[in-house]
Amino acid sequence: MIRRRVSTRLIPLPYISKIGASTFATQAASFLQDACESSIDWNNLGFGLMETDYMYTIKCGGKDDDFKAGKLIRYGNIELSPCAGVLNYGQGLFEGIKAYRREGGGVFLFRPQENAIRMQKGAQRMCMPSPSTAQFVDAVKQTALANKRWIPPPGKGSLYIRPLLFGSGPVLGLAPASEYTFLVYASPVGNYFKEGTAPLNLYVEDEFHRATRGGAGGVKSITNYAPVLKAISRARDRGFSDVLYLDSVNKRNIEEVSSCNIFMLKGNVLSTPEINGSILEGITRKSIMDIATNLVYRVEERSITIEDVMDADEVFCTGTAVGVAPVGSITYKGNRVAYKTSTPLVSKKLYSRLVDIQTGVVEDDKGWVVEIN
Ligand code: COI
Repeated sequence: MIRRRVSTRLIPLPYISKIGASTFATQAASFLQDACESSIDWNNLGFGLMETDYMYTIKCGGKDDDFKAGKLIRYGNIELSPCAGVLNYGQGLFEGIKAYRREGGGVFLFRPQENAIRMQKGAQRMCMPSPSTAQFVDAVKQTALANKRWIPPPGKGSLYIRPLLFGSGPVLGLAPASEYTFLVYASPVGNYFKEGTAPLNLYVEDEFHRATRGGAGGVKSITNYAPVLKAISRARDRGFSDVLYLDSVNKRNIEEVSSCNIFMLKGNVLSTPEINGSILEGITRKSIMDIATNLVYRVEERSITIEDVMDADEVFCTGTAVGVAPVGSITYKGNRVAYKTSTPLVSKKLYSRLVDIQTGVVEDDKGWVVEIN
C-alpha cells in the first residue's frame, strides 16, 4: 500500500499566481520531484486516490451564466449545500485524462480537447452549462503543472486528472441546479485492475444493465457508475475481474465493461459496439480504431451479439483508466470461453502503438499529444 508521507512542502499559492503556473512548475520541478520521488513507491502504483497538492475550481450561475476565471486552490474537501443538485438528483459528469512524463523530459496530455467536447455534450444531456474547450484544457493543464511532482517517472504510471462538472446549487423540486461547479483534481495512478496487465476474466451480466436506450449511458454522467457496483461486486465475489453488460432490450448485444469499452477481433476484422446512446464514446476507443485502421485492420462499429464475442479470436477492453487490457475469458450463462493470451496479441500491438505515440517514440502525426510545460 502506498502512503503519502507527511513532509510535502508546498509552493505557496500567491507565488504560483505571481510567476504563472508554468514558470512555477519549471522552477520548482526538480526539488519537488526529488522530494516526492523519495517518498513514493512508484513501482507499485495502483488505481487509488493519492491526495495531491492543488485542485482547480470555477463556478457558474444557472444555465444562462458562463464559467469565468477559475483558480487553483489547495486540494481538500469542498462545502456543498445538502440540497445541491448533484447530491439530490445526480446532476453531474466526470472525465478522466492522463498526464505523462517522457524519457527525454516534458509532460504531455493525450487529446484533452476530446474530453472537453465530451463534457460539453454530456452537459447538454444533463441540462448543465459547461466550460469552453479552452477553459477545460487550461484547467487540466494548470492542475497537472501545479501537481507536477506527483506525475510518476516515465514508464511508471501517470497523473490521472479528474474533471468534474456538477450542480452545486440547492434545488428541492426536481429541476436543474441554480449554480454549477467545475472542479479538477488529480492523483498518480498505475494499473487500473488488480490483475495488473494480466488478461481479464469477464462475467456476462444478464440481470443488471449498465444503461438503457434514451438514458444517459452515452455520456459520462456520474449516474452511470453507482448502478454497476452491485454487478461488479457479485462478479468479483465469484472470482471474475469485471462485468460485461448486455443491451437492456434484447439482452443479446454486448455493450461495455463497467469502466471501459470492448473490442473483438475475428480474422482481420476488429469490431466494437456502435455508438447507440447507451455506449460511451471512449477516447481510447476512438484512438484504437484509428490506429487499427492505419495498421490495415478492417474496423467496424456494429451490433455485436454475445455469440459473436464468444466466437472471437481475441477480445480486449479500452479506456483512459484501463488503457488497453486483454481479455482472457468470458463466462456467459455458465459457459466459459478462453481467448488466446500469448503473444503476438493484436491488442498488445495496438496498445504499444498508442503508448509509442503518447511517449514520443513514434511521430504523433495526428496532433493527439499536447505538451504542457
Ligand atoms: C476512465 O477511464 O477515465 C474512467 O472514467 C473510468 C472510471 C470508472 C475509472
